Amino acid sequence: MAAQNWSSRFPSNTLVITCPGGLEKPLRTELDRGGYDVVRTVSGAVHIRGGAEEMIRANLELRTAGRVLVPVAWGRAANADQLYRLARSYRWGDLIRPTATIAVNVTAFPGSPGDARFCALRIKDGVVDVQRTACGRRSSVDRKRPDYRIVAHFDDDRVTLSLDGSGRPLHERGYRREAGEAPLRENLAAGLLMLAGWDGRRALLDPFCGSGTIAIEAAMIALDRAPGSVGRSYAFEKWPWIDREEVSAIRELVTSETTAGAGAVPVVAADIDAEITALARRNAERAGVADAITFVTQDFFTTTPADVPPGSIVTNPPFGERLDIGDPAGLYRRIAGSAGDEYSDWDVNVLVPESIRRDDARPGAHVYNGGIACTLARL
Ligand SMILES: C[S@@+](CC[C@H](N)C(=O)[O-])C[C@H]1O[C@@H](n2cnc3c(N)ncnc32)[C@H](O)[C@@H]1O
Repeated sequence: MAAQNWSSRFPSNTLVITCPGGLEKPLRTELDRGGYDVVRTVSGAVHIRGGAEEMIRANLELRTAGRVLVPVAWGRAANADQLYRLARSYRWGDLIRPTATIAVNVTAFPGSPGDARFCALRIKDGVVDVQRTACGRRSSVDRKRPDYRIVAHFDDDRVTLSLDGSGRPLHERGYRREAGEAPLRENLAAGLLMLAGWDGRRALLDPFCGSGTIAIEAAMIALDRAPGSVGRSYAFEKWPWIDREEVSAIRELVTSETTAGAGAVPVVAADIDAEITALARRNAERAGVADAITFVTQDFFTTTPADVPPGSIVTNPPFGERLDIGDPAGLYRRIAGSAGDEYSDWDVNVLVPESIRRDDARPGAHVYNGGIACTLARL
């Protein structure tokens, strides 16, 4: 068997950071503030220049990101043979040892050649054929927890093959082991706070807190705690050509950064259900921010604002199609009524499906929550 010369070089000088639809702007702001070299913003992603350091840092510190992808091969592929040839054209043998497992995911494919599974199969064939030629052996496929997940993104007949540096999606911070009904993704919760213009310096109230995601993300922002400080694993940690010392040094830097005086702002999480507020507190404990949040069990419609100076409400009331609550439009009107009365001093931001808000002309940012088109309505 030919001796392998594992590449010590990072295989790309650009990275693609994906995000939930509608969070491109907050992601871009995070990247600009973090000093990343942004190339362009597209729907659902921002492209940056960067290598290993930026990939590690982005995984650990970006609040609104979905995944950090490392593009390695790209070209035109109008049919399955061209797709196979594109996959064969890259030196996978330098990157992926045959003892490592792989999986191929096809993310978007308007105009792609064949269905997603067939595309994935042809790409996988190309990758393992390169390995076989290079060293006589090939990786086996592990769809659930591969060492390397190769992501194919189609844009008409142009395709990009990337390594997924994140592994589990980045919204899975690791603190939410229990969830109420219809929980928000953690990166969407962080994005809503940013879209609402909440800066971590005024009080934050989520009166329909469920599993506490918005309040926990708010406390993490106020305390200047990186999402990566909760402690989870990332796909890049399994790649032998990533320097472990570099990972430790960046992890140390990102997770120890805390601005002096951070965290003094009140963050209040309320829900009508005592079991749910207890659950939210346990999630906050796992995130290490329980002391920064006041948990209250109360009905939004029969209680007055918490005893804190007015600030922002950012909330996700139970409108969702996944919850069975009679009259969502009526609920929206009642919340709008309270916003105008008891909460008139507050900046009220409510995540509402566009189907419910049909006739309401109030402006708001558009986002997708679990595939449902929503607006963050400012009431
Ligand atoms: C869509 S869930 C919130 C999900 C949350 N954002 C999360 O990430 O888990 C809505 C929550 O509103 C609560 N709720 C329903 N009616 C309420 C009311 N009148 N006052 C306060 N909370 C209420 C429910 O118990 C539920 O936990």
